[in-house]
This record gives sequence, C-alpha cells and structure tokens, in this order.
Amino acid sequence: EKGGHRHWMAKEIAEQPAVLDTALAHYIHDGAIRLPEGDVDFSDVTRIVMVACGTAFYACLTAKYWIERLAGVPVEVDVASEFRYREPPITDGTLAIFVSQSGETADTLAALRYCEGRARIVSVVNVETSSIARASDVALPILAGREIGVASTKAFTCQLAVLGVLALKAAQDRGTLSAAEIRSHLEDLTRVPALIAQALNLEDDLSDIARDLSEARDILFIGRGPMYPLALEGALKLKEISYIHAEGYASGELKHGPIALVDDSVPVIVFAPSDDLFGKTVSNMQEVMARGGRVVLVSDAQGLKAQPGSWHSAQMPHAPDLWGPLLYAIPAQLLAYHTAVAKGTDVDQPRNLAKSVTVE
Ligand code: M6R
Repeated sequence: EKGGHRHWMAKEIAEQPAVLDTALAHYIHDGAIRLPEGDVDFSDVTRIVMVACGTAFYACLTAKYWIERLAGVPVEVDVASEFRYREPPITDGTLAIFVSQSGETADTLAALRYCEGRARIVSVVNVETSSIARASDVALPILAGREIGVASTKAFTCQLAVLGVLALKAAQDRGTLSAAEIRSHLEDLTRVPALIAQALNLEDDLSDIARDLSEARDILFIGRGPMYPLALEGALKLKEISYIHAEGYASGELKHGPIALVDDSVPVIVFAPSDDLFGKTVSNMQEVMARGGRVVLVSDAQGLKAQPGSWHSAQMPHAPDLWGPLLYAIPAQLLAYHTAVAKGTDVDQPRNLAKSVTVE
C-alpha cells in the first residue's frame, strides 16, 4: 500500500512530480491560467490577508514574496490562532485567502468565520468537501491526493503551486506583468515537477548528510527572500519527526542574536540557489563558518562552485527564477525524513501530533 516505501511520508515525498503535474495541469491550460472553480479577480483588491497554521502558514509566507513582487498588492500573513483573537480590521477591498490541507483546522476555520461578510474568501485546500472549502466563496483544490503522513510534504508543494498560479493571476488582472512575462513564468512553473524528479535523485547524498545531522542537538536553517519561509518549513519538518531542536531564520537576522548559538556542534543548513540574493546569504554563511558552525550548503552547480569548503553540500538543479521554494522543499523534506529514520522515530505518527488539529 505504501508502494514499496517504508513510510507514508517517503511515498508522499516521491509522489510530488506526479501530483504537481496534476495540480498544474488543472490550473494551466495551453500556457494560460485557468481557474476552474469560480474566478478569483484581483483587479480591485487593495490588500490580501493570508491565514493558516503550520506548514500551510509557511506556504502563505512564500506566496507573500510572489504576490507582492509580481502584482504589487500588499500581503499580510498571519497564523490563524493569532488572527482570530486579534480582531484585525478588514478594510474594503480586502481579499482573504485561507490555506489548509485538511480544511478542518479549527483555528483556520474560526479565522475564516471572522472574515465572513467582511471580505471575499478564497481557500486553498486539499480536501474539497471540507468545512473550510464549504465556507469559502471560492475553494481551490490543490489535488495532492490523500496525505497520510503527519508531516506535510506533497500538500506543501501543491499549495505553493496553486499559490504561484494565483500570484500570476493577480499580476495578470492588475496588468503588472506583460502577457509574455506571465507565459514565461507559467512555463517555468510547469518545468518544476521534472526538476523535482531530479532533486529526488539526491536522496542517497541527503541521507548520508542526515546521518550526521541525527547526532546534533540543535540545528539551524537559514535562507533569504522566498528561501526564508523554506528555512522555517525545513526546521518545522525536522523537529516534528526527528525531535531535534531546530529553528529557521532569515539569514540577515543571524547576527541579531541567533549566531550566539553557533559553535562546532551546531549544523546550519543553508538554502541558497544562485540567484540575486546568493552573495548576501553566502556572507551570512561565512560568518557561521568563521565561528566553527558546520554548514550544509544546498545550492546549484554555480553556487557550490563559488562557495566550496562547507561541511556538506547538496547540488540541486538550477531553479527557475521565482520557483526555487518548490524545488528546495525536496531537500528540506528528505533531510528531515532521513534524520528521523536514522534516529528511529515514528516518522508517520510523531509523538504528540495529530494530522488534523480540529481543536484549538
Ligand atoms: O490541515 P492544515 O493544513 O490546516 O494543517 C495545518 C498544520 O496543522 C499542519 O501543516 C502541520 O503544521 C503539519 N504537521 C506540518 O507538517
């Protein structure tokens, strides 16, 4: 039933090229955006509020980078348990987006109820019959198929894919990108599943690295720009299933405190594709190395060539502009998975956690 895999999580990680192909085919037709479940129009939107929990929250944080950059609309992202009790003002022209794999997360549903009658409500869900889907004006399925492992993997990348299409739709509606630019970003996005298939080939290398990670007590993850939310997601995934203390930071924040933690017992995972932020991230990485920190550099051929000398490295395929977080989710997941396997924890049913958090 697990298709020859030892755990559901491993099966769900491996399924990503296929489920992403399905999700993208649903939203991109003949190279153009198609939103079949009722249109989402961004023309008159003045502000977007995104609300979710856990991994879905990190998908929202990533989407903020895309939407603000591509469409120029301000995006606020909040964890549902904070949003619901803060009674935030919802101004006219606000679009509220709720992201949830299960569609049953109690805090996310309560946050949605707060927005009812105040904003147009779009949800991005895996379970199409869920409470959150039913309560939304428009519910966009991520089409990941049933996710059983408590640690979310394929739902995360499918959420990112749908949110990526939404960001491009926002740019299209607002005329902030040309038709040719949108087409080219969509083409790049449809290439991502094949690149993910290539990244999955790094599994053996990543499992070797994970064996070393499994001996650490604390692990830091850093990234910049859209790789910052991925650093948070990498840390969450690792702590959930391996029980190793892990934190994600924006690279530029290290020197504002967290670097005090770094010594030669602390691995620091760096997500740094060779994009225009590469040089900045690398200079933070060098500060870590100067303090004896053990850097695992996850980058592409160009990046690794420019920055030899890390403790470990993983060579990723080159990520298309914008879509790096989808691709770099794979090493984040595989490092967490193999670290947990090396520690012998219950990967699919980690202690104290439930797949769907239906009580607050
Ligand atoms: O079903 P949801 O997407 O609303 O769930 C949100 C979180 O509970 C969930 O992402 C959780 O953080 C996962 N265990 C992460 O791997």
